[in-house]
Amino acid sequence: MRILVVGGTGLVGNRLVELASGKFDVHATYHSHSIRKPNFHKLEVTDHRAVRKLIEELSPGAVVNTSAYHQVDKCETEMGNAKAINVDAAVNMAEASAAVGAHYIYFSTEYVFDGKKGAAYMESDDTNPLGYYGETKMMAEKALLSGKGDNLIARTSVVYGWNDTKLNFATWALGELEKKREMRITDDQVGSPTFADNLAEAILKAIEYRKTGVYHIAGGEAIDRYNFTLILADVFGLDKKLIMPVRTSELKQRAKRPLFAPLNVDKTEKELGVKMLGAKEGLERMRIQS
Ligand SMILES: NC(=O)c1ccc[n+]([C@@H]2O[C@H](COP(=O)([O-])OP(=O)(O)OC[C@H]3O[C@@H](n4cnc5c(N)ncnc54)[C@H](OP(=O)(O)O)[C@@H]3O)[C@@H](O)[C@H]2O)c1
Repeated sequence: MRILVVGGTGLVGNRLVELASGKFDVHATYHSHSIRKPNFHKLEVTDHRAVRKLIEELSPGAVVNTSAYHQVDKCETEMGNAKAINVDAAVNMAEASAAVGAHYIYFSTEYVFDGKKGAAYMESDDTNPLGYYGETKMMAEKALLSGKGDNLIARTSVVYGWNDTKLNFATWALGELEKKREMRITDDQVGSPTFADNLAEAILKAIEYRKTGVYHIAGGEAIDRYNFTLILADVFGLDKKLIMPVRTSELKQRAKRPLFAPLNVDKTEKELGVKMLGAKEGLERMRIQS
């Protein structure tokens, strides 16, 4: 089967391309980071005609859309761009996928929740985003769930892993620790940090089983960022004393974030047969790849 990974240069996209190659006929797109390989196509997702044309031409069995406007604070001021990419482009791509009979996969986030539940969130829990990034993801989720076609929504959280094109939380923290710089990391934002390879593995299973609806595809452990960074330092043999805890309220971030929004992954583990890794296991897998 042919699959199209939209955003093949990104963190999740590049792991998907690598893991899917050999199993699938993989095509991918790039946007600002040019990749000169035969199956890589340049694409701007807000160009709806170009998206429809590429999907019609390739006629893939599955389209995995990893593109997003996900700078959480910038989404509060760049609302037009955030909606154009996270909602309008995503829905157009879903419609183009449905038109050729392709399974469509969209990524969402724990930021669709307000963090007030006091326990890990289930797929069926009500959404109530606190910021515009989460709101755009919620809007897209609603449109996709009520739209045509076989649409899968993969909610994930704090994705980390190796990627040449852009830093993620773990690679940024590793860089700071290696340069022996002190860091202030929030100890009151609890999520489900997710190793990108583990996420990609579960997405490929979801494609194999043509799953639809909402799945929480995230790390198997609820942990705050400060404690996650301590484990990272331990696993990579770096100095933990450089890491200081800070409260979210002290950072004066523009966008409000849910403080306690881990994702329950029972449905994913049971239905996809993939174990979602805790922080230490995921970081150890990442270290082995370095
Ligand atoms: N990373 C996280 O912690 C996290 C947490 C929860 C949910 N998610 C969601 O997971 C998905 C994947 O995240 P990620 O971390 O892999 O993102 P990423 O590393 O930023 O990758 C985004 C990809 O989308 C492409 N892209 C961006 N804007 C585009 C546009 N206007 N037109 C076409 N392509 C465009 C980028 O291409 P170029 O690089 O070539 O510009 C890149 O390949 C996103 O939907 C994100 O919201 C991520």
